[in-house]
Amino acid sequence: MSMILAIESSCDETACAIIKDGNKILSNIVSSQIEVHAKFGGVIPEVASRIHVENISIVIQEALDQAKVSMEEIDAIGFTLGPGLIGSLHIGNQAAKTMAFIYNKPLVPIHHITGHIYANKFVDDIIFPALCLVVSEGHTELVYMKEDYQFQILGTTTDDAVGEAFDKVARVLHLPYPGGPQIDRLAKNGKENYKLSTPKVKGTYDFSFSGLKSGVLQLIARLNKNGETVIDADVAYAFQETALNALLSKTEQAIIDYKPKHVLLAGGVAANSRLREKTIVMMEKYPNIKLTIPPIKYCTDNAAMIGASAEIAYHKNVRCGYDASSDSSMEMKSY
Ligand code: KG4
Ligand code: ZN
Repeated sequence: MSMILAIESSCDETACAIIKDGNKILSNIVSSQIEVHAKFGGVIPEVASRIHVENISIVIQEALDQAKVSMEEIDAIGFTLGPGLIGSLHIGNQAAKTMAFIYNKPLVPIHHITGHIYANKFVDDIIFPALCLVVSEGHTELVYMKEDYQFQILGTTTDDAVGEAFDKVARVLHLPYPGGPQIDRLAKNGKENYKLSTPKVKGTYDFSFSGLKSGVLQLIARLNKNGETVIDADVAYAFQETALNALLSKTEQAIIDYKPKHVLLAGGVAANSRLREKTIVMMEKYPNIKLTIPPIKYCTDNAAMIGASAEIAYHKNVRCGYDASSDSSMEMKSY
C-alpha cells in the first residue's frame, strides 16, 4: 500500500500526480507549455524554466485537491531527477525537496525514462522478462527487463532520437512544433510515392535517424531542382514508414533473440497512430507474447508515470537527500 505524490518537470510540461498503490491515478495534472514554445518552433530552455516556476505550486495544489488527499496521507514524494533540461529539472527538484522538508516525507529520485516505461502499469501488470521500445524526443532505446527495475539497454540511437527526427522533418515541411503529431496526421493522407533508405547502423539493436532526416532534405531538393511538385503528405508518409520500419525491425530482432514474455511501448512517439497499428500487426506473429501500449495521454510527459515508477523505487528503498542535484544526462540505474 502506498500513496505517492509525483512531480515531473524535465522539459516543457509542469506536472503533478497522486498515485495510489502504483497504478491507481487519483489525479494527474499536466500544465503544457506547448503553445508558448510553438511560437519559437521548439522549446526555449530559459522560458521553460520560468514557466515551471510560475506553475509548479499551482499544479501541486491542484493534484492534491483533485485527489482529495492531504499531505499527511502521502507516503513519499517521487520526482524526476533527470535526464532533461537542467533548468526545468531544478524547479521540480526544488519543489519536491521543499515539500519533503516541510512535511517530513522521503524523497524518491526518478529517471524520466523509467517513468515512460512504467506508464504501461496503468494498463497491465508487467510480465517479466519484458522488452520495451522507448521512443521519445530525447531517447530511442530497446530496454530488456528481467525483473522490476532491472534495466538492460540492448540498443540505442547512434545520433538523433526518433522524436527529434519527427520534429526536424516537420520543420522542413513547415509544420508547427511539436512535429510528431503533425507528421502522424499528414501521413494519413499520404501514399507510397517516394523512397527513402534506412540508415545503416552497426549494432544489432542500435538505431540511426540523422541520415534519414538528410534523406528527406535531399529528396525535397531533388524534386525542387527537377521542377516537380513536393507532395508533403507523401514525404511525411515516406519518412514515417521508413523510421517506424527501422524501429520495428530492431524490436523484432530483439524479440527473436531475447524471447520476452511481454513487449511494451513507451515515450512520446508511442502516441504515433501508425506505430501503434504496425506494432499490433507485428505482434500477431507472436501470439504467446503479451503486448501493451499505454493510452496516448500517458505516452507524452506526465507525472502519473513518474508516480508509477516511484512506487516501485520507494518499495526498493531508493532515496535521496536534500543535496540531490538534478542530472541532465542521468543514466538509468537498476535496483
Ligand atoms: O516523451 P516525450 O514527451 O519527450 C521526451 O521525454 O524526450 O516525447 C515528445 C516527442 C516529441 O518529439 C513529439 O513530436 C513526439 O514525442 N510525438 C509524436 C507523436 N506525439 C508526440 N511523434 C510521432 N507521432 C505522434 N503522434
Ligand atoms: Zn518524456
